Amino acid sequence: MKINVETTDITKAATPALVVNLFSGVKKPGGATGAIDQALEGAISHLIEDGEIKGKQGELTLLHTMGRIGPARVLVAGLGKQGDFDADVARRVSSEALRFLSRRGICEAVTVAHGAGAGGLSPEEAGCAVAEGSLLGLYRFDRYHTNGETADSEFTQLTIAERDEGRVQAIRGGVAQGRAMAEATMIARNMVNEPANAMTPSAMAETARRVAEEHGLGFEVMDNADMKGRGMGAFIGVAQGSDEPAKLIILTYEGDPANPENNLGLIGKGITFDTGGISLKPAANMEAMKGDMAGGASVIAAMQIIAQLKPRINVTGMVAATENMPGGSAQRPGDVVRAMNGKTIEVINTDAEGRLVLADALCLARERGITRLVDIATLTGAMVTTLGKACTGVMGNDDALIGDVIKAGKQTGEKFWQLPMFDEYKELIRSDVADMKNTGGRQAGSITAALLLQEFVDGAAWAHLDIAGTSTSEKASGYLVKGATGAPARTLAQLAMNLADPSG
Ligand code: BES
Ligand code: MN
Ligand code: ZN
Repeated sequence: MKINVETTDITKAATPALVVNLFSGVKKPGGATGAIDQALEGAISHLIEDGEIKGKQGELTLLHTMGRIGPARVLVAGLGKQGDFDADVARRVSSEALRFLSRRGICEAVTVAHGAGAGGLSPEEAGCAVAEGSLLGLYRFDRYHTNGETADSEFTQLTIAERDEGRVQAIRGGVAQGRAMAEATMIARNMVNEPANAMTPSAMAETARRVAEEHGLGFEVMDNADMKGRGMGAFIGVAQGSDEPAKLIILTYEGDPANPENNLGLIGKGITFDTGGISLKPAANMEAMKGDMAGGASVIAAMQIIAQLKPRINVTGMVAATENMPGGSAQRPGDVVRAMNGKTIEVINTDAEGRLVLADALCLARERGITRLVDIATLTGAMVTTLGKACTGVMGNDDALIGDVIKAGKQTGEKFWQLPMFDEYKELIRSDVADMKNTGGRQAGSITAALLLQEFVDGAAWAHLDIAGTSTSEKASGYLVKGATGAPARTLAQLAMNLADPSG
C-alpha cells in the first residue's frame, strides 16, 4: 500500500472515502471533522445529537455524501475519551477504519492524521501511528489459498491529509518510521504463520540472510557440527531428534563500533516445530506448535527495523533454530546434557526444549562479549495460564533493563508484566544427578523456566520475555489479525532506540 502525505482541502478531495474522527462526548466537532460537518450542513452533528454517533473507541459510522462534497463517503471513527487517547488508540482506530472500508471493497482513502490535533501527538507520532496501524491491520496471510478467496480488494493507496504545510515533512518522517516497524513485523508474522514444512530452520536462516543482505547487517550461521564442536550440548540434545539440520543464526548491527561495550543482544527461541520430542505432546492443537519459533522471528524482524532506523548502539540478534522431534536419535528423559559453559542439565521432560537451546545461545552471546541480553521465547504454556494473551511476561536479573522493556512497550502498544524470580523457587529445579533439571513440576512453570535460563547469563544484565500467549491472536482486534502478531519485534527495536539515546 502506498501512503502519501499531502496538503489538501479534504472537503474537495476526490476520493471514495475520507476518514475523520471524533472524541466521545464532543457535541460540536472541530478541526477536520468540523469542516466536513459544515460542508455537509451539519450531518455529523445531527447524528451526534440523535445519539447515533457517540465517539466511542471502535465506533465507525459511514455517511454517503451524494455528491455534496469531494469524498464519496465519510467514515467517522470514534477515538474514545480524550483523556485515554494515546498513539496506540491512533494505531487501532487506523486499522479498524481501513479494515471496515476494505471489507466493503473500497481500496483507497484519505485520512486525517489521528491524534495530531486535539489528541496531543506530535506530527511524527501521529504519522507513525497511522501508517503502522493501517499496514498491520490490513495484513493477511493467504498465500496458500489457490481460489483467490481472500485475495480481493487489496488496499492500494492511503493519503494522509494535513492542513498545515509546515507539518507535512514531520508526518512523512513518522510514516517512514511506521512503515519500517510494520513491514518488519509482517515478516515476523509471515514466518510464524508459515507451516513448519516450509519454515524450517534452514528457511529461517535464509530469511535472515535476505534481511541482512537487503539492510546491510552482518550474517553468520552455525550448523550442527559447528555447535557440537563448540560444546553446545544442550542445543544439540534437542536438535538430534530431527532430520532437519539445525541452525544458530547470528545477525549483527554495528551502530557504535568505537564503543563495543555499548551493546545489546537479542536471543530468540526458534523451534520451528515442537512435537515435545519423546515426551510427546497430545494431538489436540499440536499444529499451533509451528509458531514455536516466534521469538526468533521477532528477533530477525527487530534487526531489520534497527538496520533501517540506525540507533547508535551495537546489536546482535541470535536465533536458536531447530525442530523438536522424537526421531530415532532423539534425546531421552533422564539424559544429562552439558551446555557450552560446562553446566549440566538433567532432561526430565524433552518438551521443555526451549530453555535448552536458549541456554547455549546465551552462553555464546556472553562469549562474544555481550553484556546486556534480552531473550524472547514462546517458552511455557504456564505463561498463557498466568497472563492470558493480553501481555507478555517479563522476568530477569536487572530491574533497570526490565523497566526499559516495559517502557519501550508503552511506546509501541505492546504490554509487559513482570513476574518475580525469588530464590525460593530455585529448589524446584534442583537435580539429584546434574547441576539442575529442565522442569520444575507444576508450580510456577514460567518462573522455573526463567531460573534455568539465568544459570547461563553469567552476570550480564538480562531480561527474559515469555511470549507464549502474545505471539498469536485468536481474532482480529485493533492492528492484530487472527494468527501471528509479530510481537514483540517493534518493542525490541524501540528498546534499542531508547538505549542508544537515553535522553530522548
Ligand atoms: N513451546 C512450548 C510452550 C508453549 C505452549 C508455547 C503453548 C505456546 C503455547 C514449550 O516448549 C513447552 O512445551 N513447554 C512445556 C514445559 C513443561 C514440559 C515443563 C509446557 O509449557 O507445558
Ligand atoms: Mn516444548
Ligand atoms: Zn517449545
